[in-house]
Amino acid sequence: MIYPIVMYGDAVLRKRASEIEKGTDVKQLVADMFETMHEANGIGLAAPQIGKSIRLFVVDGTTLEDEPGMADFKMAFINPVILDEAGEEWGFEEGCLSIPNIREEVFRKGTIRMKYFDEDWNAHEEEFNGMKARIIQHEYDHIEGKLFIDYLSPLKKRLLKGKLANISKGDVDIDYRITAPLKK
Ligand code: NI
Repeated sequence: MIYPIVMYGDAVLRKRASEIEKGTDVKQLVADMFETMHEANGIGLAAPQIGKSIRLFVVDGTTLEDEPGMADFKMAFINPVILDEAGEEWGFEEGCLSIPNIREEVFRKGTIRMKYFDEDWNAHEEEFNGMKARIIQHEYDHIEGKLFIDYLSPLKKRLLKGKLANISKGDVDIDYRITAPLKK
């Protein structure tokens, strides 16, 4: 099932999402989130972006052919916790399915260590670097109620105000299904 993607301005994107009770069957939801993300050509999707305020996100970097080590980076993260972030901050132009047609440079640390459950509720503790770490950090922010535009300077944010207002109204040129909070 393909969900409509929640647009910027919806309160669900600003809530700290709740933990999922251990053992809950999330397999169908994970499958639906992959389908929704692929339909929108995304490389990451967090549950709040389909209106569910729970601590779950999926990533798929396997289409990033220029990035090394991405061939197996298709995973679901359940109740993830970032234990440590380290290394130099590096900049990259990020985008977000909930904030379409806006890309801005965001600086993030290069290495993270995290624990999480997979969709079978196996526990993992793992380190991620570079682009993998960045995708995870962006999605993790979503379940904390944070968005990549929060990292921008006040000036940059002011310049985006009109575009963001249009996104909240659903006035965007994209080819995936959305739900916008101020759509008339
Ligand atoms: Ni995003």
